[in-house]
Amino acid sequence: MFRIDRNLTADDLDKALRADVIEGLSVEPKRLPPKWFYDERGSALFEEITGLPEYYPTRAERAILERHSQEIAEAADAVALVELGSGSGVKTRLLLDAMLGHGRLKRFVPVDVSGAFLASSAQRVAQDYPGLDVHAVVGDFEHHLGLLPVNEHEGPQMLAVLGSTIGNQEPDERAGFLRDVHATLDFGDSFLLGVDLVKDPARLVAAYDDAQGVTAEFNRNVLSVINHRLGGDFDPEGFDHVSRWDAEQEWIEMRLRSRTHQHVRVADLDLEVEFFPGEDMRTEISAKFRREGLTKELDTAGFTLTHWWTDPAGDFALCLSTAG
Ligand code: SAH
Ligand code: AVI
Repeated sequence: MFRIDRNLTADDLDKALRADVIEGLSVEPKRLPPKWFYDERGSALFEEITGLPEYYPTRAERAILERHSQEIAEAADAVALVELGSGSGVKTRLLLDAMLGHGRLKRFVPVDVSGAFLASSAQRVAQDYPGLDVHAVVGDFEHHLGLLPVNEHEGPQMLAVLGSTIGNQEPDERAGFLRDVHATLDFGDSFLLGVDLVKDPARLVAAYDDAQGVTAEFNRNVLSVINHRLGGDFDPEGFDHVSRWDAEQEWIEMRLRSRTHQHVRVADLDLEVEFFPGEDMRTEISAKFRREGLTKELDTAGFTLTHWWTDPAGDFALCLSTAG
């Protein structure tokens, strides 16, 4: 069974994009939130990134899921899996298989801001798992958690955020998001979180600056999104892709660096913006985690961490917490 809720109409999305672009291009240093990378092309570019030799997180998380999905399914004992930022849902199939094998799973709720991509990936899941109720939700998990179809009387739920997507939020946003996730869940529900771990900066920088230039294209795609949706005249090729490690904050920053002195107009916002040669605009942070710090953050939000699994190289962690 397949259905799709559109909590974010094109109009809501447009308003949010406008507000973020006005704010982000009016401050110094300029910045744009990473959620706007993901139109259909951005989602496809991200999928390409997941297969790059330098980008280890997806392979590492898959290795953990291949090994531990059964344990996760048993510990969660859930009737529904809600996944925030589900993307292609390829890795999620390992969880679905284990949860169905365990015998209680009835419903899968993939949630993503990238509507067309979500619709096609969720439909494929529905086709491949005919007994499963697939209820996709197009929405912004920073604003629409309250609208999720979480049925309190049906049985335990597991909410998953895979791929280290939580690392793309600023620390204060992340704290608020964890509190909101906790508020969405009931006693006995579980929270499965995938996080990338702190490691050799050279490997981290390379993971966000691949030799084929796919990550650079992904980064520049945010400019194409503004051009298409808001009548911008950004020349994406007028910006260099930058990946840098911030050792103090323990996060990777992606930036777009203006190659020249340029004026950009965003017609629908009646906005003119000036970029100086070498000026950076921050487009993404990707925080890297340590077990102790993350345990504290989860604890502060009301969760109790019960399981911590890593891949054999210790690059990535998947942790399971209870909401009680
Ligand atoms: N979970 C997948 C995809 C990670 S990419 C994996 O592990 O491979 C991040 C995903 O989160 C994208 O599909 C993007 O569209 C989605 N996303 C980013 N910000 C979002 C937001 N605020 N609300 C909903 N989805 C969001
Ligand atoms: C989705 N997110 C966790 C990715 C990351 O690694 O921070 C997005 C990404 N940005 C560049 N490459 C991949």
